[in-house]
Amino acid sequence: FKVPTAINEPVNAYEPNSPAVKSLLGKYKEMNDQDPIDVPMYIGGKEITTEDKRPLTSPHDHQKVLGHYNYGEKKHVEQAIDAALAAKERWEELPWEERASIFLKAADLISGPYRDKINAATMLGQSKNVYQTEIDAACETADFFRFNVQYMSEIYAEQPESPKGFWNRLEWRALEGFVLAITPFNFTAIAANLPSAPAMLGNVVVWKPAESQIYSANVIMEVFKESGVPDGVINLVTTGGANVGDVVFKHKEFAGLHFTGSTGVFRNLWKTIANNIETYRSYPRIVGETGGKDFIMVHPSAKPLEVATAIARGAFEFQGQKCSAASRVYIPSNLWEDVKENTVEQVNSFKIGSPEDTTNFITAVINEAAFDSIAEYIDYAKESDDAEIIAGGNYDKSEGYFIDPTIIVAKDPKFKTMVEEIFGPVVTIYVYDEDKFEETLTVLDETSEYALTGSIISQDRYAINVALRKLKNSAGNFYINDKPTGAVVGQQPFGGARGSGTNDKAGAKLNLLRWVSARTIKETF
Ligand code: SER
Repeated sequence: FKVPTAINEPVNAYEPNSPAVKSLLGKYKEMNDQDPIDVPMYIGGKEITTEDKRPLTSPHDHQKVLGHYNYGEKKHVEQAIDAALAAKERWEELPWEERASIFLKAADLISGPYRDKINAATMLGQSKNVYQTEIDAACETADFFRFNVQYMSEIYAEQPESPKGFWNRLEWRALEGFVLAITPFNFTAIAANLPSAPAMLGNVVVWKPAESQIYSANVIMEVFKESGVPDGVINLVTTGGANVGDVVFKHKEFAGLHFTGSTGVFRNLWKTIANNIETYRSYPRIVGETGGKDFIMVHPSAKPLEVATAIARGAFEFQGQKCSAASRVYIPSNLWEDVKENTVEQVNSFKIGSPEDTTNFITAVINEAAFDSIAEYIDYAKESDDAEIIAGGNYDKSEGYFIDPTIIVAKDPKFKTMVEEIFGPVVTIYVYDEDKFEETLTVLDETSEYALTGSIISQDRYAINVALRKLKNSAGNFYINDKPTGAVVGQQPFGGARGSGTNDKAGAKLNLLRWVSARTIKETF
């Protein structure tokens, strides 16, 4: 069978007063005004509730309770594993094109009848503005489903040569056991991709979402159900990490971890898995995308306005909470005054507020813990003699977790906010001597504990080449003359190495290959 050639879901611009924006905002209002909903766990196709109800609130209006989720116990994690294993045989024996068709339908549902619902849920629960929601929740989710189906078909088509008298074949089996997906708050699409990619290839999955994404995860589960994902194939458990880890990592059938989240958590999970390695039937596949300290490196030949736009968009879209967000910038002294003026002007023009006002560029950060941690970095810069704040610097959590987009200028390229991940609307700039481009590349690389995304902005091709060479290992996604965010599935496979992850490239065949375990069959005639 040949699957439909995947194309990226067209992004709706939501022009003011257009039918599309009216429809989306209507859905937002409906969901905002309704009584709080009860979000169950989904285990073996059953909706499971508990006595322990915990609130799901809007980051931009934290007194607003959207619903409650049901906090699970260890027994629910055990039940989810049992349900997954019970579903396994029939699921992996289903011809692959049947599995493909389920996820192609899921793509059509999420970008069609569920488009407003998944977008509104992401605006309400994760405080994305309309445009950021659209590229993530509706479009990137559909893209993951469609492109992964295509890559799956390409993987299954890969077969070895057979000389006369023999037939060699590869049987692309699912992993033996179950996969655990642990997903982040910052992209609804990533949350949908991490359980669905292994599932598509015949695996069964236990999915633990971040608490602050549960509201939109619930919509994803509705879509999975309606598209025909059988009971038990993807099981959603909403509980703390320790409850999940204590059960999953002691289970013989644990076969893989598909993770996006913090570097610290991922390292701890890896250690736990290592400590239990004798327990497992097979060596588990460990796939993770973790932290970042993404950069923009500017050459003296760059155009100041282009640099300013790259900083403003790259650092502050979705409040700087993309794993790819620009968070440190190196600017040559000859461009500094122009770049400074243009950047501050653009950033100060950003409107801040609730996502239902489509003119707001910045909304709230995800929760109080994130707010406090980001505010601490801003205060550190305020109090330091080695830094100056040239835009923003204010924050207020009285109604929502709002932080002004903040630009710090540091005197030292190793200043705390130049090297530590902040994950919020804060960017730090270091102005280097325009004659020290190559030396600055060396400092940049030496301070890259993470290596997720980065950009070089330059009109000089030789300089671009030098940067490509010297920063070879400083970013898994490298941009020339652009901001370092906005990787598109099917166009820029996404992921980095060093402290940023295993670089198994989400939205690519490379990722899907981690969820199959081939059997080579040689038949002699
Ligand atoms: N795809 C996102 C970006 O590149 C990150 O996951 O911004």
